[in-house]
Amino acid sequence: MGLFRFMLLTFVALTSATILQNGQIRPTNYPDTAIAAISASELGWRAYSPDARELSYKGRWDHQYISWWSAPGLKFGFQAQQIAISFGNYTSDGVLLAYRIDGQDWQLTNVTANSTHLFITPETTGYNLTQPANATQTFELRVTNWAYGVQIQCVHAYGPEARLVHIPNYTRTIELIGDSLSAGQYATLEGISSYSWGLLYGLGNAEFSITAYPGICLHDSRCYGNLHGQTYQWLKIPDTSGRALEIYGDGPGIPSWDFAAHPAADITIINIGTNDNNTANNITASEYHDSYIQLINEIHARWPASQIIVISLWGGFGQVGNTWVQGGGFVDTIQDVVRYFNNGSLNERGGQGFVHYFNTTGILEHNDIGPLYHPTDVGHVKLASHLMQYIRLTFGWLLEQSGPEVQHETLYWNDEADY
Ligand SMILES: *[C@@H]1O[C@H](CO)[C@@H](O)[C@H](O)[C@H]1NC(C)=O
Ligand SMILES: *[C@@H]1O[C@H](CO)[C@@H](O)[C@H](O)[C@H]1NC(C)=O
Ligand SMILES: *[C@@H]1O[C@H](CO)[C@@H](O)[C@H](O)[C@H]1NC(C)=O
Ligand SMILES: *[C@@H]1O[C@H](CO)[C@@H](O)[C@H](O)[C@H]1NC(C)=O
Ligand SMILES: *[C@@H]1O[C@H](CO)[C@@H](O)[C@H](O)[C@H]1NC(C)=O
Ligand SMILES: *[C@@H]1O[C@H](CO)[C@@H](O)[C@H](O)[C@H]1NC(C)=O
Ligand SMILES: *[C@@H]1O[C@H](CO)[C@@H](O)[C@H](O)[C@H]1NC(C)=O
Ligand SMILES: *[C@@H]1O[C@H](CO)[C@@H](O)[C@H](O)[C@H]1NC(C)=O
Ligand SMILES: *[C@@H]1O[C@H](CO)[C@@H](O)[C@H](O)[C@H]1NC(C)=O
Ligand SMILES: *[C@@H]1O[C@H](CO)[C@@H](O)[C@H](O)[C@H]1NC(C)=O
Repeated sequence: MGLFRFMLLTFVALTSATILQNGQIRPTNYPDTAIAAISASELGWRAYSPDARELSYKGRWDHQYISWWSAPGLKFGFQAQQIAISFGNYTSDGVLLAYRIDGQDWQLTNVTANSTHLFITPETTGYNLTQPANATQTFELRVTNWAYGVQIQCVHAYGPEARLVHIPNYTRTIELIGDSLSAGQYATLEGISSYSWGLLYGLGNAEFSITAYPGICLHDSRCYGNLHGQTYQWLKIPDTSGRALEIYGDGPGIPSWDFAAHPAADITIINIGTNDNNTANNITASEYHDSYIQLINEIHARWPASQIIVISLWGGFGQVGNTWVQGGGFVDTIQDVVRYFNNGSLNERGGQGFVHYFNTTGILEHNDIGPLYHPTDVGHVKLASHLMQYIRLTFGWLLEQSGPEVQHETLYWNDEADY
């Protein structure tokens, strides 16, 4: 249906752009958390370097503690009155972060390169609700935009005997490989409004990584300005952004992800090909087919026990007569790939093989896609919900997030009882 021609990569600074939400300007004057630099000798403050064992990095980060891809995070426990973080000079200007203490709602703040931000004080909502008062509290932050990132330079803890505490990883791990649809492009809070986030964070008690980037193809080809496809880039630490190109260039300087140093994903979800299936890029069905098999083989070689879910491409919706019809992309080709790993069967729900087919047809309707051809927030929530149930029914995973907010700013309701 060729509806994705607007997925152009953008190398310009987006931070000053006005965000229109249903035609209204969305307020983005988030609380300013910047404070003056905290010197190493400042009384009452204890500094933790970015390689401190207490810090747990979520998603893909490099050896300079620079974050990559969609919704990467940092998490640690603390016993302190204040928590501040200094960001290195590789931090994107004005990048929007979501952060929270324990199970409180997400809070938003913009941070910038070479600056220090105060995230937690006793005035922070929820701080004094911790019982007992000296128990360890959890701090978590997430980068919301897929093209931007932060560099962690130092974490500061303030107070008598202030300290950070290592929070052990959850035992289950899940990976999602995709393009703009999975990175959350055009969702209101981008990465943290995406179906990927809703699914992976929403499952609860799971480590996860969203290796998705707008405009990227599966086949290793230049697509919408991305120099590489996922058969190449998924094996690397950085994504295909302009900032990655600035730091690492193209070629042998791009660092590889050390799969052996991180837990294997129990489940790997792949939603890729919408850009391959576009006349702007013209990847042939046969190139796509072979690249899909290659990617699955790369995953299986590194994570032999990972169950792989292949998501069918929903394409776009077109008006036909006086109704709407869903498109699709490489529909037969994707099914052929799944059959290739399953002795000819499609393996939709369970089955013998490790490659499973997830049929998205019928989940989204035409008004779940926004004017920029990506799911609306509602569309993302629908996809996430269906995938959660699919994973529960197919692999027996319990839904373990049952209270704390996952998606932020989705509380729409009617308070007019009398109309
Ligand atoms: C960041 O700082 C380091 C050392 O402090 C320096 O080597 C590097 O060139 C700086 N990078 C940028 C993009 O300013
Ligand atoms: C904060 O981030 C949002 C989302 O990217 C952006 O619209 C806004 O302009 C940023 N604000 C500042 C002060 O950088
Ligand atoms: C970072 O900020 C400090 C203090 O404002 C300044 O002295 C230093 O030059 C800055 N470094 C970079 C790389 O911008
Ligand atoms: C939490 O307790 C501290 C110390 O007792 C106090 O200064 C602060 O105002 C309290 N915060 C809230 C939100 O009640
Ligand atoms: C918390 O305070 C209680 C009562 O003062 C004390 O018994 C306990 O050891 C403290 N726990 C920590 C982790 O400091
Ligand atoms: C914990 O999980 C993250 C992903 O969320 C992973 O990158 C990291 O390697 C894991 N750490 C350990 C010690 O297993
Ligand atoms: C997209 O996939 C469909 C099959 O579902 C095919 O008919 C169409 O030619 C493909 N378009 C491009 C540009 O690859
Ligand atoms: C892709 O193929 C279509 C149909 O053959 C053609 O019209 C279009 O120009 C091609 N696009 C590119 C980027 O080569
Ligand atoms: C495919 O068939 C072979 C031979 O019957 C069998 O050993 C293998 O387990 C099957 N694989 C799958 C994924 O069903
Ligand atoms: C996917 O779902 C649609 C709608 O229910 C159905 O028409 C189609 O046959 C399904 N595809 C497969 C391969 O089962």
